Amino acid sequence: MADAYDLVVIGAGPGGYECAIKAAQLGMKVGVVEKRDALGGTCLNIGCIPSKALLHASELFEEAGHKFADMGINVGTPKLDLKKMLAFKDEAIDGNTKGIEFLFKKNKIDWLKGAGKIVAPGKVEVADKDGKQTVEAKNIVIATGSDVAKLPGVEIDEKGVVSSTGALSLAKVPGKLVVIGGGVIGLELGSVWSRLGAEVTVVEFMDAILPGMDGEVCKTFQRTLKKQGFTFKLGTKVTGVAKQRSGYKVSVEPAKSDEKGGGDGETLDADAVLVCIGRVPYTDGLGLEDAGVETDERGRVKVDGRFKTNVDGIYAIGDAIAGPMLAHKAMDEGSALAEMLSGKSGHVNYGTIPSVVYTAPEVASVGKTEEQLKSDGVEYNVGKFPFTANGRAKANKVTDGFVKIIADKKTDRVLGVHIIGANAGEMIAEAVIAMEFGGSSEDIARTCFAHPTMSEAVKEAALAVTGSPIHM
Ligand code: FAD
Ligand code: NAI
Repeated sequence: MADAYDLVVIGAGPGGYECAIKAAQLGMKVGVVEKRDALGGTCLNIGCIPSKALLHASELFEEAGHKFADMGINVGTPKLDLKKMLAFKDEAIDGNTKGIEFLFKKNKIDWLKGAGKIVAPGKVEVADKDGKQTVEAKNIVIATGSDVAKLPGVEIDEKGVVSSTGALSLAKVPGKLVVIGGGVIGLELGSVWSRLGAEVTVVEFMDAILPGMDGEVCKTFQRTLKKQGFTFKLGTKVTGVAKQRSGYKVSVEPAKSDEKGGGDGETLDADAVLVCIGRVPYTDGLGLEDAGVETDERGRVKVDGRFKTNVDGIYAIGDAIAGPMLAHKAMDEGSALAEMLSGKSGHVNYGTIPSVVYTAPEVASVGKTEEQLKSDGVEYNVGKFPFTANGRAKANKVTDGFVKIIADKKTDRVLGVHIIGANAGEMIAEAVIAMEFGGSSEDIARTCFAHPTMSEAVKEAALAVTGSPIHM
C-alpha cells in the first residue's frame, strides 16, 4: 500500500477534524472525506457556531431595547434588520469553516471531497458529482455525526415547520413559534426568536425542561424563561401539525393520555414550528452492513474502550457513537484516538465533560447531579452561593442564578458543579479543571480568585460546602 493513507477519517465535524489534525501533528499521512461543501460538520455549519452567533446578536438586541437605558445609554427603540443579523451569522460560519480549511492545508491533510463509503476494511470509496475514487487506508475513522430526530406525523419542510437548521435562517420573525422539545436546542433557538419578538410556546414531553440536568437549576431556569415571555406546556405531547391557510395548528395532549387520546387535548396556533426532540446517529450510505460493522439498537456504531469497532482497522467517534452529543466530547475522542493510533496513550474522562446551555442566564454543569447521587446511594454535601451576593453580578445587574457544588460527604472530592447565571459557560471550566485533578471543595475554597469576578461565586459555593461563605 505505497500510497495508502495512515488514516482516512470520514466526516469533517469537530470529531473528525480534530482527529485528523492531531494525527497529522503526530506524523501520520491523513485524508478526510467530507461531502458537505464546507469543513466543520454540524457544529460549524448548522450547529454550535451559527446558533451562538444568533444568541449573541439577539441578546445584544434585547439589551439595547431593555437594559441600555438603565445604564444611561439612550439608543431609542432598536430596529431589527434580520437579513443583516442572518448575514452576521453566516460570516461566523464562513470564518470558522475557512479556518479549518487553513488548518488542513497547514497540516498537509487531504480533503477528499465527496461521500465516503467503506467498501472493505482498508478501502474507502469517495463519490462526488464527477465520479468515484477508492483510497486505501491503514486505519479508517467513522466520524459521520448525527442528524435531526424526526417526529412521526410531522413533516419538516425547513420553511414553516423547521428543524434547528431551518430555525437558524427563518426569513421573518414568526408571531407565534411553537417549539416541540424543551431541550437544549428548543431553549437556545427559542430564546433567539423570543428576543427578536416571537411569542414562544415550548411543548415538552417530560415534566421538566432539560431532563437530566440538576432539578433545582431547571426550576430556576424555567422560572427565569417564563419571566422572559416563554410559555411552557410540560408533560405534553404533540399529536399532529396541520397546515392552515396562514400558519399551523399544533395539536397537543397530555403525555400520559392513552393511545385513544383520552386526555384533554387542545390546539395551539403557530406561524412556525420548531421540531427539536433530539438527534440520531447518521451513518447513511456508509456501507456499515456490508463491511460488517455493528451498530446498537439506537443506530450508534458500537466501539470498545479504544474506539475500535468489531472490525479491525475501523474506528468511530463523536455523535455517531454512544455518549453526549457534544462537540467537545467528539473533539476529545478525536484527539485521544489519534494518540492511540500513533502508539501513545489517549484518554477521555467522561466524568468531567461539561455541558452548557447558552441562553441568558447560561446554564452549565459538570459531573453528577443530586438526583443521580441519591439514586446511586452516594452521601454528599452541598454548597450554594447566589449571584445576588456577588459584587460583580450586582454591579452588572445580572444577579439571576447561583453556583452549586456537590462534594463527597467523606472525602470532600467534588462530584458535580451546577451553575445558572451570566457567563456560567466560562465559569464551569474552573470546576472541570478542579474535578479533572480530583480536587476537593476545600481545594477550590483555598484558591485565590480575582475580584471582582462572577467566578468568586464558585469559591463562595465551595466555602459553603463545609463551612460558611464570606459574603452571605
Ligand atoms: P458532525 O459535526 O455531525 O460532522 C459529521 C460530518 O460528517 C458532517 O459534516 C457530514 O456532512 C459528514 N458526513 C456524514 N456522512 C458522510 C459520508 N458518508 N461521507 C462524507 N462525509 C460524511 N455541541 C456543543 O458542544 N456545543 C454547542 O453549543 C452545540 N450547539 C449545537 C447547536 C445545534 C443547533 C446543533 C444541531 C448541535 C449543536 N451541538 C453543540 C452539537 C454538535 O454540533 C455535535 O455534537 C457535533 O457537531 C458532533 O461532531 P461530529 O464530528 O461527531 O459530527
Ligand atoms: P435534547 O435531547 O436536548 O432535547 C430534546 C427534548 O425533547 C427533551 O427534553 C425530550 O424530553 C423532548 N421530547 C422528546 N420527544 C418529544 C415529543 N414527542 N414531544 C415533546 N417533547 C419531546 O435534544 P435537542 O434539543 O434536539 O438537541 C439535540 C442535541 O444537540 C442534544 O443532545 C445536545 O447535546 C446537542 N446540542 C447541544 C447544545 C449545547 O451544547 N449548547 C446546543 C444545541 C444542541
